[in-house]
Amino acid sequence: MAVIFYLSGTGNSLYAAQKAQDALTDCRLEKMGDYLRSPYKVQDDILGIVCPVYCFALPPFAAEFLRQLQAAPAYCFALVTMGANAGFALKQLHQLLAAQNIRLDYAQDIAMPDNFFAVPEFIRSKMLTAAEDKLAGMQRRLTAKEQDLSRCRDAFLWEHGGTALGWKFIRGILQADRPQVDGQKCVGCGICARICPAGNISMQDGRPTFGNSCAVCLGCLHWCPQSAIRAGRKKINSKTRYVNPQISIEKMDKVGR
Ligand SMILES: Cc1cc2nc3c(=O)[nH]c(=O)nc-3n(C[C@H](O)[C@H](O)[C@H](O)COP(=O)(O)O)c2cc1C
Ligand code: SF4
Ligand code: SF4
Repeated sequence: MAVIFYLSGTGNSLYAAQKAQDALTDCRLEKMGDYLRSPYKVQDDILGIVCPVYCFALPPFAAEFLRQLQAAPAYCFALVTMGANAGFALKQLHQLLAAQNIRLDYAQDIAMPDNFFAVPEFIRSKMLTAAEDKLAGMQRRLTAKEQDLSRCRDAFLWEHGGTALGWKFIRGILQADRPQVDGQKCVGCGICARICPAGNISMQDGRPTFGNSCAVCLGCLHWCPQSAIRAGRKKINSKTRYVNPQISIEKMDKVGR
């Protein structure tokens, strides 16, 4: 049996996780957030970890998941999706798994459209086409249970600085970890609450309310059909809105266990 734990705000990482699932037999997908709510000893022979890159590193939410993870798989792989630069995310992931006595066998980064800095539509479609080749290669390597950690590189000095500065900018200046809703635009559809990977949104009186555990995935901003949510100073409009075209709200919603 195999399990893939994933974190995804706008569907890129979920799409990569689904592709990995297709390459394996008897494989289920689980949200990292669900595992964090009720951790358990993973019994599966094959373990996959899939998440985005934030500020050249792992999302703090994914790092927290890895610190809680209990597993002893025979084969372990990791995929990260990112706009342009995976930084040292895979190396960090490798180290966090090692701290849990889990040996990583294969790691891969896959470029997909950026959900933080908007890119034009024609670049998005080029990236998605290029990603298909990368994903097909990943599937072949998973099927063969290859060992390859060449993508787990150390951070360049500026990337360490970039991670610290990036989070200072995102949390301190943009205050993007504090989403807010425009009550005039919101139609109460509940999509934001359904897709939030951190379980940070609940619907009250037909409007979303936000807790204090935002993972800054920007999912609620991008999925909201009314562009009614902003994350501090960070706003999304119809031009900058992005969700992976292969992923539906129902798929984001799915609880895998
Ligand atoms: C807070 C934040 C920080 C990000 N930092 C990076 C980064 O350092 N490098 C990069 O290439 N992409 C970065 N991105 C873009 C995402 O990694 C990329 O769009 C990813 O595929 C999103 O995956 P998802 O759709 O599964 O959430 C960042 C996105 C967010 C929301
Ligand atoms: S997704 Fe947008 S419109 Fe729907 S409930 Fe959330 S904020 Fe309101
Ligand atoms: S509140 Fe919005 S930005 Fe924060 S984790 Fe949930 S979906 Fe992502």
